Amino acid sequence: MPELAYLNGKIMPIAEAMVPAEDRGYNFGDAVYEYVASYNGKLFCLELHLDRLAHSMREMRFAPLSMETIRHAILDLFEKGQMARAGIYIQISRGVAPRNHAYPPTDTPLQFFMTVRPVHEKPPEVREKGAFAITVVDLRWGRCDIKTVQLVANCMAKQQALEAGVFDAIFVSAQGVVREGTSSNLFIAKNGVLVTHPLNHQILPGITRQVIMDVCRDQGIEVQERFFYREELAAADEAFLTGTITEVLPLVRIDGQPVGDGVVGPLARRLQHGLLERIQ
Ligand code: PDD
Repeated sequence: MPELAYLNGKIMPIAEAMVPAEDRGYNFGDAVYEYVASYNGKLFCLELHLDRLAHSMREMRFAPLSMETIRHAILDLFEKGQMARAGIYIQISRGVAPRNHAYPPTDTPLQFFMTVRPVHEKPPEVREKGAFAITVVDLRWGRCDIKTVQLVANCMAKQQALEAGVFDAIFVSAQGVVREGTSSNLFIAKNGVLVTHPLNHQILPGITRQVIMDVCRDQGIEVQERFFYREELAAADEAFLTGTITEVLPLVRIDGQPVGDGVVGPLARRLQHGLLERIQ
């Protein structure tokens, strides 16, 4: 089970992958990324991740790189990694150029970097018993729909959560609109109806969010995509995060207050199973 890196067409041990210091990802955060995981030797929702990567690259006005090339490189690295439960990190930057805010010439080659590693699973009791979270003010930029590597605000919020002794932080706008987790989307439930933030520039269009909404459609569970405020979060019967590694993670206490009865609710449980069925 070798942990491997891919850098511009070459596969090597991760420690040997070196990127020039003037990479624009390093200088400006001028890079986009994806994270795809496999179950039982198959990458889950690869095509949806590729679609979102294409969206990120288009919005950043990166030089075109064919999705076929990217797909082929991902599958090659995945195969060489030989892991049934792998996490593939994919990062593409605008390339290497002398530091200058203006974009470099369009023929500057993109820098294409990936790693394959075993997934570090969350302890099963977190999924079983639920986790605690805090809310924090959303300090991120205005294009959170683009999956860029500019994640300092996310890292600060996650660290704040850990230092508060909880699992994660939920971003809430200055006006009180509840957005998402630091690396996950958020759903709440009230009287059997789910609510989640609509897709716009303020959240990432999560693949797991999309799969969960699809499961809900199949199972006749109503989902409202609309803004909701801090007060609605506090009054929710249930809350849960969704994400590639997060899967469906129930939150049972937010800002020190129990969510609903303070235990994992029936909708979160049902959707955990629903996701598992999709994976299988
Ligand atoms: N994060 N929102 C944010 C801000 C995220 O960073 C992520 C994913 C999600 C969930 O998206 P998905 O269901 O497609 O994984 C929502 C990845 C896993 C990461 O940063 O590693």
